Amino acid sequence: MSAMSPIRTVVFPVAGRGTRFLPATKASPKEMLPIVDKPLIQYAAEEALRAGATRLVFVTGASKRAIEDHFDSDPELEAALLAQGKQDLLDSMRGIIPSSASCIYIRQHAPLGLGHAVLCARPVVGDEPFFVHLADDLIDANVPCLAQMAAQFERHHSSILGVQTVHPSETDKYGIVASSVIEPRLSKVSEIVEKPKPDKAPSNLAVVGRYILTPQIFSKLATIGQGAGGEIQLTDGIAQLLKDQAVYAYAFEGKRYDCGNKLGYLEATVEYALKHPTLGDPFAKLLGQLLEARSADAHSG
Ligand code: G1P
Repeated sequence: MSAMSPIRTVVFPVAGRGTRFLPATKASPKEMLPIVDKPLIQYAAEEALRAGATRLVFVTGASKRAIEDHFDSDPELEAALLAQGKQDLLDSMRGIIPSSASCIYIRQHAPLGLGHAVLCARPVVGDEPFFVHLADDLIDANVPCLAQMAAQFERHHSSILGVQTVHPSETDKYGIVASSVIEPRLSKVSEIVEKPKPDKAPSNLAVVGRYILTPQIFSKLATIGQGAGGEIQLTDGIAQLLKDQAVYAYAFEGKRYDCGNKLGYLEATVEYALKHPTLGDPFAKLLGQLLEARSADAHSG
């Protein structure tokens, strides 16, 4: 690995069934849930592309074929849009993945955990550092979160975890790190635990779905065995990696939406709609009217 090599591969673990969104996710992947007019996985791909990735590796499972279709070209639909003169829509479809980038799909044969999903990508990633991106965690930032982390990687050439502080009562939803501060936003990780109960958590600094990992993670993931919830946990692999090399936690700039739960998903939908270039104003007006009507109802009832 050359010291200055940019990170060219991103791994999207997308095999999870999304049971929290059933029945919406019965036949359709949770990563295809739209935020306004783009599915979550497209925001994910765009973030990785803007951070310099050119190889997009999707670790898929049952009922995920829609993701492959989404990133494939669709000549029939393109011809129809062209014939109807709908150039804007045509451009929005054609530009999803530039021709310089490639999509690679690997099947995770059983739901054995996030660590196992990442390990499935080993034959494609090879001996290079790589991004891992969890599409449930949508991050709105001026500089895409993975690009911020890539800049840190160029300085430190070590694994980097995207983190944010969470409410102390919520540590059992995340990988939690103990770390010592190096400079604003950056700290060196000394410990990482998967979903500790608040009274056992080493801090309230949580990993939120963005990772840069060195390839040495693979041999750790191959040997750790089952962890929390009976799954092969990425967090446990990182805990092993820490014993051999430095791992940093980076508190990224931006707002993160937990689109793995309904309230976070709705929050993202509303905020992205309010920021949308053409929908923003009419939507703000509509939302205002709806809230007014709701509070009038509450007062009259
Ligand atoms: C996964 C990881 C966890 C991480 C979280 C971020 O958990 O196992 O360490 O903090 O993603 O969203 P999941 O949300 O898949 O249960």
